[in-house]
Amino acid sequence: MTAPVDKADRPRCPVDIDLIDPDTFADGLPLEKFAAMRESAPVFWHDQEGAAGDGFWVVTRHADVQEVSRTPEVFSSYERGALLHTGPAEDEEQALEMTRMLMLNMDPPEHSDYRNIVQRAFTPRTIRNLEPRLEEFANEIVDRSLAKGTGDFVKDIAAELPLLAICELVGVPAEDRGIIFDLSNRLIGFDDPEFRNSPEDAQIASAEMYMYADGIAAARRECPMDDVASRLLAAEVDGTALSQDQFDVFFLLLMVAGNETTRNAISHGMQAFFEHPDQWELFKKERPLDTAVEEIIRWATPVMQFQRTAQSDYVLAGQSINKGDRVAIYYSAANRDETALTDPDTFDITRETNEHIAFGGGGPHFCLGANLARAEIRIMFNVIADRMPDIKATGDPRMLRSMFINGIKEIPVKYA
Ligand code: HEM
Repeated sequence: MTAPVDKADRPRCPVDIDLIDPDTFADGLPLEKFAAMRESAPVFWHDQEGAAGDGFWVVTRHADVQEVSRTPEVFSSYERGALLHTGPAEDEEQALEMTRMLMLNMDPPEHSDYRNIVQRAFTPRTIRNLEPRLEEFANEIVDRSLAKGTGDFVKDIAAELPLLAICELVGVPAEDRGIIFDLSNRLIGFDDPEFRNSPEDAQIASAEMYMYADGIAAARRECPMDDVASRLLAAEVDGTALSQDQFDVFFLLLMVAGNETTRNAISHGMQAFFEHPDQWELFKKERPLDTAVEEIIRWATPVMQFQRTAQSDYVLAGQSINKGDRVAIYYSAANRDETALTDPDTFDITRETNEHIAFGGGGPHFCLGANLARAEIRIMFNVIADRMPDIKATGDPRMLRSMFINGIKEIPVKYA
């Protein structure tokens, strides 16, 4: 084992880039720079003045992202949370107590206790049973869009099915989905002025989401149903029911995690079809549904990265990482790694072997909603291909300004 290295001796990024600055991603992923990182500094130190440890390691290769994800005993989600923070260490410290109630920010074995509460609502069988309902929703979404003739694909189509699906599963009335849409935009789009009313707005939005969750909890306590909200209220961890705060953060996680991600996969998928019309023709004609869905998810990689914190000294790809160091794992860079995927810069909906890690690199936090997301994407594109095969872009997409979510805000389209 090599000795831990001083900060001054740590390898730096081979290209000029600030991965914390949302402007870096304002025009899309910096794919050429990611390629240079994978090639010459696959594990490098990124300075972040004033933040915990004044910086973090950046991991860009597929195998290394998997290794970090699958070694939770070293790489903790609990220690400093799983979200890479943009602000100073003190702010982060304050937020930690609340965020640690999210299972996303827990380590085993505590993590498994919480995940088990909701796991059963997301099994392949449960999702298969939900599919007829998802098909109905998808057809209604297409009816409404066709009636409009033109519009914004993101808002009219991509955002709708994920919202309806997660509201249905959790137990939120469909007519309240506009409230959830607005709140999750403000929570996730906090770096984008279009979604943020003030710098503190993400916090206000989470408080509003908690208030909304309180209302759902009260209704379900009175009248339990067969939904995730009722399941959360009935659950016990170590013989104790979840507190109201614990219920609220669980609710928030499910609402946010199930929305933005799938919405962006659908938006990026449609945009990729617009840019690769041969693939759209192929999709419409042959419907290679399973391979197309995986390729859309890989191409989109809606979550760019998550963070871990080393619990002990560790050597990753020959690089010494010190105990206490933060490590950011870049799914968006790893999903273009040519050592793991053939021709990764080609959008190929018939790709047979596609070991993308858009849902995480494996390990305990692997996306809970992967089965649901796959079903939504498959059903949505199938219905679009059946009912609006000549859909056309009428302008360029507008990208979300974010260092976390690879998002599209708007794609102007003609539906018919
Ligand atoms: C294409 C769509 C989606 C993508 C790309 C995505 C991506 C991810 C990623 C990268 C993680 C972290 C994995 C890790 O740390 O190893 C994650 C976790 C999670 N996802 Fe998804 N997700 C998607 C859809 C969904 C949906 C529809 C839900 C529904 C509720 C969902 C719920 C969650 C939850 C609850 C976690 C935390 C799991 C845990 O900590 O154990 N996701 N997702």
